[in-house]
Amino acid sequence: MKTLDETESITGAPACTVRRLKPADLGRVIEIDAKVVGRPRRGYFEHKLALNLLDSSVEVSLGAEVDGILVGFLLARVWYGEFGETEPVAVLDTLAVHPLFQGRGIGASLVEQLATNLRGLRVRTLRTEASWDAFELLSFFQTQGFRPAQRVCLDLDLEGAHKS
Ligand SMILES: CC(C)(COP(=O)(O)OP(=O)(O)OC[C@H]1O[C@@H](n2cnc3c(N)ncnc32)[C@H](O)[C@@H]1OP(=O)(O)O)[C@@H](O)C(=O)NCCC(=O)NCCS
Repeated sequence: MKTLDETESITGAPACTVRRLKPADLGRVIEIDAKVVGRPRRGYFEHKLALNLLDSSVEVSLGAEVDGILVGFLLARVWYGEFGETEPVAVLDTLAVHPLFQGRGIGASLVEQLATNLRGLRVRTLRTEASWDAFELLSFFQTQGFRPAQRVCLDLDLEGAHKS
């Protein structure tokens, strides 16, 4: 069976197929994420994937394949009524493309398919968060049409917080 590293010689823009993520993708998802973030997050993905795939009517977790190999994925969820929202909002939790396949339109294909699926579910907003200094990720989101939201994201440091 071909592995991701054996596809290193692929150049140009390979045709990718975007499909729904399946439980069997867990190992590959962990592998791709580890390449991108530098460490494996098995527990996180076991939990996330299980939650994401629970509701089969909401196909918002997607994988991108090239030559039958998973090379990118995203995990998203639709929230109904949280944070005082009156309309459903989709939240994109995680997005990653294997480093060997980045810059070839695969991330854009994943986001485009997600947007199409969400429109079909009558969800009007897709939300995500990124570190303020994750410039490359922010650039990517900008090219996909994301813009800063009219909300403030707050953290409380539970170890050292002082009320003022
Ligand atoms: C961000 C990421 C998903 C983009 O996927 P990709 O397949 O490489 O992106 P695409 O080839 O589809 O690029 C789409 C557009 O975004 C732009 N873009 C992509 N990566 C970019 C970068 N690093 N810097 C600037 N622009 C970028 C491209 O130029 C392209 O713009 P264009 O359509 O005007 O040509 C991918 O690079 C990745 O996985 N990065 C790591 C993400 C990460 O840190 N995840 C942590 C877990 S959440």
